[in-house]
Amino acid sequence: MPCELILALDVPTKEEAAPLLRQIHGQVRWVKIGLQMFTAYGPTYVREVAEQGFAIFLDLKLHDIPHTVTKAVESLGALPIHMLTLHTAGGGEMMRAARAAQEKTNPQLLLLGVTVLTSMDDEGLHEIGVPSAATHQVARLGRLAVASGLRGLVCSPLEVPLLRQALPADVQLVTPGIRLASEAGGDDQKRTLTPAEAARAGSTHIVVGRPILRAPDPAAAAARIIAELARA
Ligand code: C5P
Repeated sequence: MPCELILALDVPTKEEAAPLLRQIHGQVRWVKIGLQMFTAYGPTYVREVAEQGFAIFLDLKLHDIPHTVTKAVESLGALPIHMLTLHTAGGGEMMRAARAAQEKTNPQLLLLGVTVLTSMDDEGLHEIGVPSAATHQVARLGRLAVASGLRGLVCSPLEVPLLRQALPADVQLVTPGIRLASEAGGDDQKRTLTPAEAARAGSTHIVVGRPILRAPDPAAAAARIIAELARA
């Protein structure tokens, strides 16, 4: 199964999203709706995008007490979504509760655990009282997530080899932090891999935003990435 492309729909309004979705329709199957669009337009917008035929990755990074997360997963599980994120730092009990709620309301939904945000480094972890190095913490939280019933994680493509070693082979690894070989540097993503490198490392899905959103022809940029993934 080739690594799949997910478009991060990081635009401020649905008026800006509409032409983009029209252009990539039929090429890109997955769209990631994050906090920006969800807080602006809510579940109605998720349904609208799903009705256009896209598979939805809802990136809300849930992190709360088990009871509250259970209720949120029950509400969100009623939406036509295929992937949903939560913070593994919420702990085993929270993840098990989320998994039980997901099984009950939407058995097809894949819950993805976020380990350590890629904006955090060792120093940032020490600041909040975590003495481990980031890589160690990623492996630890990845194992806890899988032991708690999760079948997928979001991680940096640079962490994929480590997680592939630590976790069962069927765990889905979804990786943002992707840049095309032609566009080295230039924005806030620093530790990046190309689509082909991420696929070869063992990512099952890559999340790409700006390299497609800012391209003069977003559909052509998406097509190039899909072709690169197929060759990898
Ligand atoms: O524009 P770009 O390709 O950097 O977009 C990447 C997407 O993945 C954004 O929606 C960003 O919030 C998300 N993301 C990330 N790094 C993480 C988790 C999510 O870049 N560790």
